[in-house]
Amino acid sequence: MKKFLVTTPIYYPNGYPHIGHAYSSFIADFYARYKRLLGYAVKFSTWNDENSQNVLKKAAEESKEIMPYLDAMAQKWKEVRDHLQISYTDFIRTTQNNHKKLVQEMLQKSFDKWDIYQWTYEGHYCVGCEAFKTEKDLIEKDGQMVCPDHLTKPDLIMEKNRFFKLSGYETSLKELYARNPDFVVPEHRFNEVKSFVNGSLIDFSVSRETNKFGIPLPFDPSQVTYVWYDALFNYVTISRNEGFWNNETEIVHVLGKDISRFHAIFRPAMLMSADEKCPDREYITGYFTVDGHKMSKSLGNVVDPVQMVNDYDRDAVIFNLLYDVPIWADGDFSVERLANLYDSMLIWGRGNLVNRVTSLCEKYKINDGVFILKKREMFKWEDLDPEVSRAGDSRASENGLFKLFEEDFNADYIEEKYLNKAHIRDYLEDRYKLVQKANEFITKAEPRKKYKRDATKAWAISDLQFLLYIVKNLALISAPFLVNGFKKIQNIFGNEELSFVDSSVSSADNDNFKKAFDMREFKVELKPIIIYQKKEENDKNPDQSGW
Ligand code: ME8
Ligand code: MG
Repeated sequence: MKKFLVTTPIYYPNGYPHIGHAYSSFIADFYARYKRLLGYAVKFSTWNDENSQNVLKKAAEESKEIMPYLDAMAQKWKEVRDHLQISYTDFIRTTQNNHKKLVQEMLQKSFDKWDIYQWTYEGHYCVGCEAFKTEKDLIEKDGQMVCPDHLTKPDLIMEKNRFFKLSGYETSLKELYARNPDFVVPEHRFNEVKSFVNGSLIDFSVSRETNKFGIPLPFDPSQVTYVWYDALFNYVTISRNEGFWNNETEIVHVLGKDISRFHAIFRPAMLMSADEKCPDREYITGYFTVDGHKMSKSLGNVVDPVQMVNDYDRDAVIFNLLYDVPIWADGDFSVERLANLYDSMLIWGRGNLVNRVTSLCEKYKINDGVFILKKREMFKWEDLDPEVSRAGDSRASENGLFKLFEEDFNADYIEEKYLNKAHIRDYLEDRYKLVQKANEFITKAEPRKKYKRDATKAWAISDLQFLLYIVKNLALISAPFLVNGFKKIQNIFGNEELSFVDSSVSSADNDNFKKAFDMREFKVELKPIIIYQKKEENDKNPDQSGW
């Protein structure tokens, strides 16, 4: 079985998850689900970054002991992820023992290689970022130099620390980037990384003298490991002993642009120093903003994803986040926009298509109450309604129904064109064209009218069979993001033919996609239901899960 590892950043539990965390989690979830459908064994890890000063500070503000505070937060974050249906397989809390052991092993290896040494350092430290800042990283606000993300003045720190010899890794990093032209996606983020590496690498401290909470250095227990050195190894902790941190596994990470330097520069150097494999790709996202400013726990301008999911639908929230803003850009989050997209693209676009097609198929009870779902090869353009082909929807036309249909249902094409390049917005947009075309097709073909006349009845039947095939496969190709919609479509089809498809678990039964696309001819007893309903309807039947 092919193997795939996908991760989110591990988030600081100094507040509750907001839309920004839901965003990176949904993207990773999308990849995990897609790969499972393609028959990969998937490991998908996420969770909390606990050995940090900002977390200690928060617990102290709330007059709580650190461990009970972290336990309660881990539980809360888990509940949110479950509620958002994030299909993670593993979680890591960096206070775990196995993580502590691994970090100490890595430190020792680098220490033995003389990649870690002692030095005294003075600098401006932003606790929000958990990072030292130089003058040019800061912006001016009310006459003070502050961190642009957290709008707070960094602390001046002078400490005797251990340093990692990042400056020694310029050549190795450049070689790594040259070997892996997709190491960082999108390209402009990769260019930022490369230009940073070009001549400006300075060693960074991997320990703290004054903090006591964290992983002790194995060669100097009076100091604890710097939170970022520790955190960047979480991906290895979760996967190495289970055979997912190796050359046989495709390893990808999803993270925001705030932490791309740590992941794309510090981390590969640390991994190389400890003789560990480097990942294959890092997908870097922009920020969701509120009135142009980054949504952030410390600024308090956050939107609660749980509330959004309860008010609308999980599918509406992921669709809004992934469709509205391409991964490489920043974009404002707005509830109005979410509501509009839900209404126009999910309720009216997709929902309407499913409903029109399945209701007609059920109504006509073709073939004595059962409907034959044909195999792909059984559809011939000539069998379909000639009026529709005359209307320019032919196989040859660029956005024709047949063309889209062929592309959409070709997994290799999708991986190459969209997934590996993180063109997720395009993926959603292009799949949506098929929804539009299929809706147009029904309008033009008028199967309802044709069914009533003997001379045209056969066309109505073949058109409806074709549309039913599209509805089924469209649901399948959208299952990695429209999770609820797919479950409802499984119910509509009401038999075993789609029920084996589950994007939340890896199956040894390879290639569910292929099987579900090209399934044998089978009989369906359709039970049409509404797949997406308006917010007002959701309000009438609130979620009973306790949120
Ligand atoms: O940085 N828009 O944790 P963190 C989009 N613990 N994405 C956002 C976002 C926004 N407004 N706000 C947060 C840390 N994110 C470290 C990571 S990893 C080894 C350690 C997402 O709680 C985005 O992916 O500050 C960002 O990189 C991540 O949350 C940072 O979460
Ligand atoms: Mg942050």
